Parts: sequence; C-alpha cells; structure tokens
Amino acid sequence: MSRFAYINGKFVPHSQAHVHFEDRGYQFGDSIYEIAAVVNGKVIDEDAHLKRLDTSLKAVHISLPLQITNLKRLIREIIELNRYKHGYVYIQVTRGVAPRGFPFPKNVHPSIVLTMRPMKQIQTVKTHEKGVRVMTVEDERWARVNIKTTNLMPAVLAKQLATENGAFEAIFVRHGIVMEGSSANIFAVIDGILRTHPLTSHILGGITRERILSLCTKHHVPFEEKAFTLEEFYQADEAFITSANVLAIPIIQVNETKIGNGNPGPLQKRLQDLYFEFMQE
Ligand code: PDD
Repeated sequence: MSRFAYINGKFVPHSQAHVHFEDRGYQFGDSIYEIAAVVNGKVIDEDAHLKRLDTSLKAVHISLPLQITNLKRLIREIIELNRYKHGYVYIQVTRGVAPRGFPFPKNVHPSIVLTMRPMKQIQTVKTHEKGVRVMTVEDERWARVNIKTTNLMPAVLAKQLATENGAFEAIFVRHGIVMEGSSANIFAVIDGILRTHPLTSHILGGITRERILSLCTKHHVPFEEKAFTLEEFYQADEAFITSANVLAIPIIQVNETKIGNGNPGPLQKRLQDLYFEFMQE
C-alpha cells in the first residue's frame, strides 16, 4: 500500500519526503514535533495534541505556518491517504531553511511535515499483557523538557543503553527522583495510591498521562501528582508507562528489582482497559 507524507504544501510519496539540509530542524534540532495515535481513523485527543504543539511552538518563537483548522484538515487527509485503520500521525514544524547561523534568521518560513505510520494492533500486543522491564539512567536532559522539541539526543542515548541492556524503556532519575521515561510518562502505585510526577519543566506533560488522570477522576480512582524517589519506585506495588506510542504498558521490573510480585498489577490493568475503551469509543 502506498504511504504518503505532507511537506510544505504538498502530499508526496513517503519515499520522496525530503527536506533541505539547511533546514534548521536538521542542523540545530530547531523544531517542535507531535505524535498522536489514530484508532479506527480517529485521532486520540487531537485537540490536546494540537494545543501542546501550539504551546511548544510559542515557547521557542516559531509560528505555525497555517491555521489550526487547516492543520486538522491535513491530518484528516493524511489518514485517508494512508488508509491505516490504526496508526500514528507525526507532525514536525521547524524554524525553516536558512544558511547556518545560531540566531533566528530573518524572513525565514517555518517548514511543516506530516507523516503517518501504522500501529500493528491496539490491545493484544504481548508487552501490554505481560509487562516490560525498565532500567534507570541519570537525567541529563536540559531544564525545559516540557517543550516538545526534536532535540532528543539524551533520550536517544538513554533508550539505546536500555536496549543494549534488554530493557524496554529508560527511566530518567534526577537527584534521586523518578521523572519519566525517555519517551513516556511513568506512574506507580505506592502505599495504595497511584502517583505520577507533577507537571514541571522537568517532564513532558504527556497527553496520555492527562487522559489517564481524567479517567481516574471519572472512575473515582484516587491519585496524587506527587514525585516519588527511586527507593519508592523499588517498593511500588505496580507501575506503568504511558505515551501515544506505547499507550499504557505495565512495568514488571526496574533494574534488578521486581515490581510487586513481578506481574502486571490490577490497578494498571483497570486503567489500561479504561484507556483502551476510551480510545475505541
Ligand atoms: N513521546 N515524556 C516524553 C519525554 C515523551 O517523549 C513522551 C512522548 C511522553 C508522553 O507523551 P504523550 O502521552 O503525549 O505521547 C512523555 C513520543 C510518543 C515520542 O517521542 O515518540
């Protein structure tokens, strides 16, 4: 099946989706991105993703080169063109193409790229049922990771280290505090209460995280947006990670320590089910 991308005003075959080498996204990571899951052709929490795109762009003074309504139309078009029942939409907006120089260039036009890739299955993926092992790494990222920039080198290195160690995800720890995964937020059940790091500039405000919290509120599941230490993580009864990519995956082991009895826990299972139901509504 043909795969299509959208680049600066045109839909092109995925294989021809090129950007210029002087695009600042390429040279400086001077760009913002979003990834949203698409289930049965519907973008999950589309408005929240587009709002975060807008907030991130404003934070780095890049303007979205089109109206939000037009962007929504392009998203619908790329879903229709690619014909994936379930998938992921990727959006990237860069400051644009200009001769290399650190300050913002004058008269530069932001570039926009949309791509899509398929999602294999929604619910029955083994990792979702069985859970995954994660490893912790020092958080060496900058102090504004709430902005979703494509400057992802620390996350790339952390995930590579995790992969080499047979772990599914790297969890960033900052001064003994568990922050989030290299590309996912993290929740843990500690002393019977679901906890996740509060929104600060040291974590990305995940759209999936927010949805899980609103499902907790709706279904009367108590939670606290309160940071937890690595020691508390080792003692947790349950834990899981969330993102548009992984949706909600149980953690059954951190480093050499089993979480709870080493199996996915009941609360995470309930929330995972609620999230999957929400996605398919
Ligand atoms: N990553 N934290 C970080 C550092 C992330 O990169 C992500 C998402 C999340 C979860 O955010 P959301 O629930 O909105 O997907 C948290 C995307 C999926 C990625 O870069 O592939």
